Amino acid sequence: MPATNIEDLIALCKRRGFIFQSSEIYGGTQGLYDYGPLGVELKNNIKNSWWKSVVYERDDVEGLDAAILTKQSVLKYSGHEETFTDPLVDCKSCGERFRADQVPNYCKKEDLTEPRQFNLMFKTNIGPVDDGKTFAYLRPETAQQIFTNFKNVVDSTSRNVPFGIAQIGKAFRNEITLKSFIFRVREFEQMELEFFVVPGTDEDWHKKWVELRINWWEKQGVPKKSLELYEVPKDELAHYSKATVDIMYKFPHGVEELEGIANRTDFDLGSHSKNQDELSLKSKVSENHESNAKLALKDENNNWMVPFVIEPSAGVDRAILAILNEAYHLEKIEDKERVVLKLKPHLSPIKAAIIPLKKNDEKIVAKAKEIKNKLQSLGMGRVLFENSGNIGKNYRRHDEIGTPICITIDFETLEEETVTVRDRDTMSQKRVSINDLEEVFKDLF
Ligand code: GAP
Repeated sequence: MPATNIEDLIALCKRRGFIFQSSEIYGGTQGLYDYGPLGVELKNNIKNSWWKSVVYERDDVEGLDAAILTKQSVLKYSGHEETFTDPLVDCKSCGERFRADQVPNYCKKEDLTEPRQFNLMFKTNIGPVDDGKTFAYLRPETAQQIFTNFKNVVDSTSRNVPFGIAQIGKAFRNEITLKSFIFRVREFEQMELEFFVVPGTDEDWHKKWVELRINWWEKQGVPKKSLELYEVPKDELAHYSKATVDIMYKFPHGVEELEGIANRTDFDLGSHSKNQDELSLKSKVSENHESNAKLALKDENNNWMVPFVIEPSAGVDRAILAILNEAYHLEKIEDKERVVLKLKPHLSPIKAAIIPLKKNDEKIVAKAKEIKNKLQSLGMGRVLFENSGNIGKNYRRHDEIGTPICITIDFETLEEETVTVRDRDTMSQKRVSINDLEEVFKDLF
């Protein structure tokens, strides 16, 4: 059973060092979180798994890591300056501010101001003079710099459609209403793919990417039965979208969006292009006299063709919440409770804990370190030499943080070259020869 209560997850995250409130010692900042020693490992493992599936295991996707500070023109032509807003209301009696469509029940809703549009983008000035003109935005999505780099990537890789550009990175939104721990925050990470296709093939590619993404979530331990597909109705679509399918997950606070997969048509490449009237664009874009590039390809008849874009866009923080929620299990064993995180081993922050049974026996400790170094060198992720606490406490801790196996080194190890391997999920223990340990370890992943 996954966790049903967000409080259990928050407590585990703090207790074991996954996630902390940011600037906590100064009272914290709402909507900002810091990832601790285990959180950073889990996050990196999720991002690596996405990158592996979207870039390495395909031959039609390139990677990108663009700047976060974004020139105003980019977010003007993308439509964000005009449309990336939420309606904001003030309550004159309780003195709080809310999104007009999310006024909570504790507010009597008697003395609300008329809604006014509030842009969610953060701004910062560039250079030493703050004259209000030389500013940049902190990007509200990673997507836009993929579009602005389209020509650079095509020219440097000789790619032709269908192909994609993937990026993982921070995005910033000055959200009015924060929600449920790391579900809706002001600084978060996205894993975004912009997949460029020939117009006319876009609907098939859209379907294909929805399927591929669901399969990926299943491999991360988020089963199909916890997911729902939501076809965004036409009147709720973002300005760039012809169709969007949201992958919804049963979060502890309710069913909400985990990932969006949009058919963005030729809107983005068209919007950021010069000489738009030569491009036979299908979407309606604002005239652009600032761009110095045509973001288009030549087709077989030497005509300009602006690819359509299919965009699977997933939030890393929401991924962490969903994956932790699915992995969290509270079990009763002989009147005692055990919390165990049944994470997929490739996502576990620590891949194996190496525990010397006698912490003050030099030979046992040296052997444990030798085994740790050997397994660490295989490059599967972090292997921990665990030299504190008794064995029972070590098992409990590693169950709670999702370590797939604990390997204990004892006197028999010195005599017979064997170790005890304890499995996190079954708690079964077996004796394994050190010669076979590498294979047993690698088989987990
Ligand atoms: N480029 C398209 C785009 O940004 P979005 O639906 O606004 O689309 C994509 O965001 C994903 O980013 C969402 O499905 C969600 O996982 C994540 N996300 C969006 N806003 C977020 C926030 N304030 N806090 C945490 N994650 C967020």
